[in-house]
Amino acid sequence: MTIIINMKESLNLRKIRIAARFIKEGKLVAFPTETVYGLGGDALNENSVKKIFLTKGRPADNPLIVHIASFEQLYELASTIPKEAKILAKRFWPGPLTFVLPKRDEVPSITTGGLDTVAVRMPANEIALSLIKLSKKPIAAPSANISGKPSPTSAEHVVDDFYGKIECIIDGGETEIGVESTVLDLTSKPPTLLRPGGLPLEEIERVIGKIKIHPAVKGRIVDVARAPGMKYRHYAPSAQVIVIEGKKDRVHEKIVELIDKYHREGLKVGVMATGGFYDADAFIDLGRNSEEVARNLFKALRELDKKGVDIILAEGIEEKGLGLAVMNRLKKAAGYRTILLR
Ligand code: TXA
Ligand code: MG
Repeated sequence: MTIIINMKESLNLRKIRIAARFIKEGKLVAFPTETVYGLGGDALNENSVKKIFLTKGRPADNPLIVHIASFEQLYELASTIPKEAKILAKRFWPGPLTFVLPKRDEVPSITTGGLDTVAVRMPANEIALSLIKLSKKPIAAPSANISGKPSPTSAEHVVDDFYGKIECIIDGGETEIGVESTVLDLTSKPPTLLRPGGLPLEEIERVIGKIKIHPAVKGRIVDVARAPGMKYRHYAPSAQVIVIEGKKDRVHEKIVELIDKYHREGLKVGVMATGGFYDADAFIDLGRNSEEVARNLFKALRELDKKGVDIILAEGIEEKGLGLAVMNRLKKAAGYRTILLR
């Protein structure tokens, strides 16, 4: 049985208290954040964390992000807090930025996938913050999707993946940002961007100067020691995704050409693009700018999957601002099948 708590209209602390009790009891609660929905459990309780891995079907070496509601809570999780963490937290927390820091012994190794570092963030969502405060626990929460599927940006997506499998889902409506948090490793000098996300790289660099970009951010990588999560298949719908990037008019022509080609092969084709119109079996307009595309991306992948298309042709966008996070997700969803037109 899964209790669904409707909190689309306004914050209801009495209802959040029910969910907080589940967390304290070691049960799982899916909740909204500003990025995507999280599948939460007590980060310091090995059994809760074990349930998160089992429920998602997540490989044990892919570590979780721990969510906190005050900066002081960071001292319970991380053994060293460099000045960059303080500066960035002051500027961007609560918000879509995750720090990787050396972990304290109190954090179970199952939570960190066996690593000696822990990933921590403070989400900018009142429901999430209240849940953390009322449960009095740091909450480990990966995105609330079955491992390998697109991340959930609404409670409906969580219902599709986990109804009947977890204790509670808090429905806070659609998430604002739509892609996950930016993951920044603060144990290296300069810090390293491990995953582009809801906070653009440019904004971080404006505050602390140049940072390193992990090679996996832009391309395929096979053996990754620092961010084990990178090696797994991600965001993948059942359909084969093909990303087409380059000059807008050439991309348009190419998509039209491919629709025709796959139709002749008897395949069902879906298209996701920024504007225009395509005579495909399904067409989703992702929006006018990188913020809109980020917000619509995962929902679009899930919708096209539901329509049963065989191929998804996705228009690439510029890797600036949220575009870097969008393209990182799209390329992974495509298994790096991309066509670049200059
Ligand atoms: O926006 C978000 O970050 C969402 C919401 C729910 O907060 N959560 C999320 O969690 O995206 P998840 O588990 O889907 O992604 C966590 C990412 C993975 O890429 C993982 O490899 C990385 O963070 N990560 C976690 N701990 C790490 C560590 N100690 N070192 C390096 N990477 C780590
Ligand atoms: Mg995820």
